[in-house]
Amino acid sequence: MTENIDVDALVQAAADARTRAYAPYSHYHVGAALLTADGQVFTGCNVENAVYPLGLCAERVAIFKAVSEGYRDFQAIAVITSNGGSPCGSCRQVMHEFAPEMIVFIADESGAVRRTTVAELLPDSFGADDLPR
Ligand code: THU
Repeated sequence: MTENIDVDALVQAAADARTRAYAPYSHYHVGAALLTADGQVFTGCNVENAVYPLGLCAERVAIFKAVSEGYRDFQAIAVITSNGGSPCGSCRQVMHEFAPEMIVFIADESGAVRRTTVAELLPDSFGADDLPR
């Protein structure tokens, strides 16, 4: 499946979204681009708030946009920051909820892209299967 993903295009979509980051407090701008199973792309940027805990990460903005539009099957997400920072724990958990086998591309401003997976980022995870039905 990886072979069919246009990684450059996905990273570019994340970079475009990153230009719209609202990060006046951390000054850390993040962009994300989420690829659905059927090839659509949903983007996100981090959106901060003067009440700091209300801010939301770029990855979750992208995922929630997609889910709210009726998409739940995802094959990959690209995340780009200045320094190639890895997705936070909360984002990893939300990725796991919808796409435990998703590929994650982590990019930086220099053009370097690292490939990993949700399973690698969140081993021994907690999920829906752990809850009683
Ligand atoms: N941030 C993200 O958007 N994604 C991550 O995975 C890590 C952190 C944002 C949240 C906040 O706006 C800024 O980066 C600094 O933490």
